[in-house]
Amino acid sequence: MRDHALLHVNGVPCQVRGHEAFMMLADWLRKRRGLPGTKIVCAEGDCGACTVLRAREVPGEASPPRFDAMNSCIALVAQMDGSHVVTVEGMQVGEDLAPAQEAMRRCHGSQCGFCTPGFVMAISGMLEQHGPGPVHARCARNHLTGNLCRCTGYAPIVEAACTVRASERHAVGPRYATTSAIAAARAAQAESMHLEHEGLRFFAPVTLREACTFAAKHPDLRVVGASTDLGVPINKGRPMPRAMLSLHLVPEVHESRLTRTGVHVGARVSLSRLRHLCEDAVPEFSRFLDLFASPQIKNVATLVGNIATGSPIGDTLPFLLVAGAQVHVASRPGGQGPLQKRAIPMTELYRGYRQLALQPGEIITHVTFDRTPPQQTLRLLKVSQRKDLDISTVSAAYAVTWQGKRGRGPRQIVEARVAYGGVAATPIRMPEVERALVGEFSAARAEEVAQLIGRSIRPLSDVRGTAAYRSVLAANLFRQFAGEVLHG
Ligand SMILES: Cc1cc2nc3c(=O)[nH]c(=O)nc-3n(C[C@H](O)[C@H](O)[C@H](O)COP(=O)(O)OP(=O)(O)OC[C@H]3O[C@@H](n4cnc5c(N)ncnc54)[C@H](O)[C@@H]3O)c2cc1C
Ligand code: FES
Ligand code: FES
Repeated sequence: MRDHALLHVNGVPCQVRGHEAFMMLADWLRKRRGLPGTKIVCAEGDCGACTVLRAREVPGEASPPRFDAMNSCIALVAQMDGSHVVTVEGMQVGEDLAPAQEAMRRCHGSQCGFCTPGFVMAISGMLEQHGPGPVHARCARNHLTGNLCRCTGYAPIVEAACTVRASERHAVGPRYATTSAIAAARAAQAESMHLEHEGLRFFAPVTLREACTFAAKHPDLRVVGASTDLGVPINKGRPMPRAMLSLHLVPEVHESRLTRTGVHVGARVSLSRLRHLCEDAVPEFSRFLDLFASPQIKNVATLVGNIATGSPIGDTLPFLLVAGAQVHVASRPGGQGPLQKRAIPMTELYRGYRQLALQPGEIITHVTFDRTPPQQTLRLLKVSQRKDLDISTVSAAYAVTWQGKRGRGPRQIVEARVAYGGVAATPIRMPEVERALVGEFSAARAEEVAQLIGRSIRPLSDVRGTAAYRSVLAANLFRQFAGEVLHG
């Protein structure tokens, strides 16, 4: 059993144990590694000042890891076990500025400079994923949605991102994920990790059986995914969970694949990877994920974390409710005997505000959901206070199955599934609305259904919107969907 996390920072191997393992990565880089180029501004994943590049060895995967941008302010050092972390200090090539730094200088993309390292790292992360061709402004803007600058203005920064010369791009992968670094990380990953400091415990087992045994023995346990939810309250002063369990060393939870009729998503699969996987099988969900948080969040955050947080405004939940999703859990009651596994239909998962139908000691291992069938129209809509990097005020998922092929005249709906987030204590399906939709679909029917939606929900008021606003929004989202179907 290892008593330390093993990570590489700018190519240097680091064994981290004790107090340091429970520090936030950004703090640790600045205060313990002498790397103050990584800045901290918001400390909640919103501004990108703390962006670093990270590649993680995935147990059982032979291909070299890919470097992605992530926020270092809301991740514990312990979670970086098996990772290669590159900070802005590690980007320099010999005596020269890094290509993204040089482009920022050339395009006057920096004034006070406080946000600049974060932008440099976000641009470098984009280049790691981009082919040798030109970077278009739209792509650059998408990759920079997680970074804020208050003085320069974004035009020169986007210009910098688009004009890093292909000949200057030095891929980070070959420089830092060297054969020896990969071998060291893989060797360490064969062993479970148990970190302890002043009553805090962080356990990362190599098998699901060990994970479930630990969960059975620690009723106060929190499973940690990427901590993009968990890390924020900790930074705001809430106590850190006393017992944390990470599944990053368990091979099967990294599995993501298409099956004949559906999609299988392991508990440690990032939303970026999921977006890629669903591009053809569930294109609407893939598109919708573009509006989820920022690249820095999506490169690490998991679908399972979104589900288990149980927020009524979790963006993926209305989709999962209409896509026949099943949440697969494992446990080992009493910490003895064989593993017990069961699947909970997504429609039965939420029992109340952030209350899940999980038994003590149950861990979510993976989620499955359906591909979009050819006769179905799937539409996912979200309204938030700003377009990018904001969770929804109200979100909606509509999946309607049509009779026959599109022809002239009104079409018949044979099955409808409708789900909303942000209109109740949990995300909800709307059976009455679904029944009302079956049959001929016309503008008059659509208006009746929109009014029915407005009448049937009783949302709460909060900082994101009043109850009245949410009711109007819910009805209007349906009107938008109906308009697209009738006239699109
Ligand atoms: C800046 C920012 C923007 C965001 N934008 C959005 C957005 O647009 N839309 C949105 O919906 N959310 C958003 N979020 C919230 C968050 O990113 C998502 O909920 C994300 O999917 C959480 O995944 P995670 O792996 O980080 O979960 P974690 O934070 O690690 O965990 C979240 C919860 O899930 C539990 N959990 C994790 N894995 C398991 C498991 N295997 N078994 C049982 N329980 C488990 C944890 O114990 C915890 O309670 C945002 C967050 C930030 C910081
Ligand atoms: S400091 Fe703002 S995202 Fe980390
Ligand atoms: S240059 Fe000052 S915040 Fe961006």
